[in-house]
This record gives sequence, structure tokens and C-alpha cells, in this order.
Amino acid sequence: MKRKDLLGLRDISADEIMTILDMGKEMRARLDANEAGTELKGKTVATLFYENSTRTRVSFEKAARCLGAQTTGITAQASSVQKGESLIDTGKTLQSLLTDAIVIRHPSSGAPHFLAKNIDIPVINGGDGTNEHPTQALLDMLTVYRAFGDFRGLKVVIAGDIKHSRVARSNIWGLKKLGAEITLVAPETLLPAASSRLGCEVSYNLEEAVCGANVIIALRLQLERQTAGLFPSAAEYHRYYGITDRILHKADAGVLLMHPGPINRGLEVSGAAADGECSVILDQVTNGVAVRMAVLKLLCAAAY
Ligand code: CP
Repeated sequence: MKRKDLLGLRDISADEIMTILDMGKEMRARLDANEAGTELKGKTVATLFYENSTRTRVSFEKAARCLGAQTTGITAQASSVQKGESLIDTGKTLQSLLTDAIVIRHPSSGAPHFLAKNIDIPVINGGDGTNEHPTQALLDMLTVYRAFGDFRGLKVVIAGDIKHSRVARSNIWGLKKLGAEITLVAPETLLPAASSRLGCEVSYNLEEAVCGANVIIALRLQLERQTAGLFPSAAEYHRYYGITDRILHKADAGVLLMHPGPINRGLEVSGAAADGECSVILDQVTNGVAVRMAVLKLLCAAAY
């Protein structure tokens, strides 16, 4: 893969996505067999997180170590960002500390793109504002790929807070490029203004939308990004848009229930559904390590 950075799935090709997924499959087999790798021996991967994270940060660190790299973890709360250091100065400082790649999460959409333009080492977007979260979508796609072997004609329902979801945006770009049919389901207040231009079906009725679905991706309600009461009450939201066993029974018999985490149990998904036989939520987490190993290997080993 001949690119310096991974900033989003909007600007990468279907072939590049398949290269990552095929390598992700190999990495998952390696994780299952507990085999260590040495491809990135002598390299250092920094995680630069301006927002909280459990899955993305820990899995990037685990992925780097599984390839033989060292890791440096920087959070905005415990770094010189608190003393007023700019994003570019922080990036250039990490580069001068002989870092080989930076994984960045930032509340501002476009921050990873800005950093990537101003430093020479690979930048990987670990989630920027409401824009994209490419490695989350790639791990979601790896989970689908391992289950179905192909994306063409698959019916994927993305349900919940699509308006504020960088996970939804990256999944829409990626899944559409590989031939999946996507339906977005949410109350109108949680859909983006230009949802009709995303190239997906749009529905306000979850029960109808899930009929025959192969994959349901439930999204976290991003209460921290919502500026006003966008739905009347938590109980009402769960009643109309929560994924429950009753909803799953209306989908295809082999439906996968996915969620990027962290889950608000009893809100976007019931506890029984999250822990039930359709749920692959914890498998997604392990696939996150595998797909991030693939991304790190492809970017750090490439002669960009
Ligand atoms: N899915 C996801 O990005 O989770 P974290 O916020 O825990 O990284």
C-alpha cells in the first residue's frame, strides 16, 4: 500500500481496503495462535489521544507490540498540550523523538489531516470529531468479512446516532465501496442534514428496516456531542430504536449484531441482545487488534 497516512475511508480505494482486510485476517489467525511478529522491531508507535479511549488506544498499543514495536502513550491531560503546545509542535516533537508513526484521536474534525500535512511520519486517524474513525470501520468490516466472505449484496442496517457518528461515516464509505447495501435508521433529529446524499436508504422505522438484514450496527448515543434534547426520553428512544431480541428475530437468521462500544446498555441495545448469540461485539474488539496490526505493518513498512 503506497500511502503515508490512513486518515479516512473516503479517500482510499476498494483495493486498498481489501489489502488491509486480507492482512487483517492473517493477523487474526496469528493472534489466535499466539504467534509474535517482528516486522516492526526497532520502530516506535505513539498514541496521541486528545479524547478518552479504551478500545482504540489499547488495541493500537497491543497491535504495535505484537509486531515487535515499542509504544509511547500521550494523553492531552498529561502532556505539554496543557501548557499551550500546538498540535503541530507536539507532532514535530514526537517525530524528533524518533517516533515512526502517530495514532491520533482529536475532538476536532480534520485534526489528523492537518497533522499529517505538517510532519513526515505516518499519521493514523484514531477518530476525529464527527468525521471519521477508519480503523473502527475496518475492524467492523473484518468482522463481516470473516463471517460472510464477501460484501456484495449484504444488507447492513446502521441504527442510532448517525448524525454525530464518525463510526457511521467511515462504515458508509467503506461498506459501499465493497458493494454492501446500507440502510440508516434513526429519528430525524439524529440523522445528518444531508443523509439523502450519503447513498444509503434512510428509514425512521427500525422494525421494518431490519427485515432480512445480515448485519446490524448499533451506534452509541453520543450524549457528549449533542447540544439539545434530540429525543424525548431514554425510555422512548430504547422503545423505538433500541436493538432487542425482538428486533433481532425480524432480521435474517444469521444476523450479526455489532456495536463499536462503549455500549449504553438498555439504551441503544438491550443487555440480553448485547450478550446474546447474535452479538459479535467482543469479537470486534479482537479484530480491532488484528486490523490495526495490518494498518501499522502496511504503513510503517511501506517505502512511502
Ligand atoms: N470504539 C471506540 O472507538 O472505542 P474507544 O472510545 O474505547 O476507543
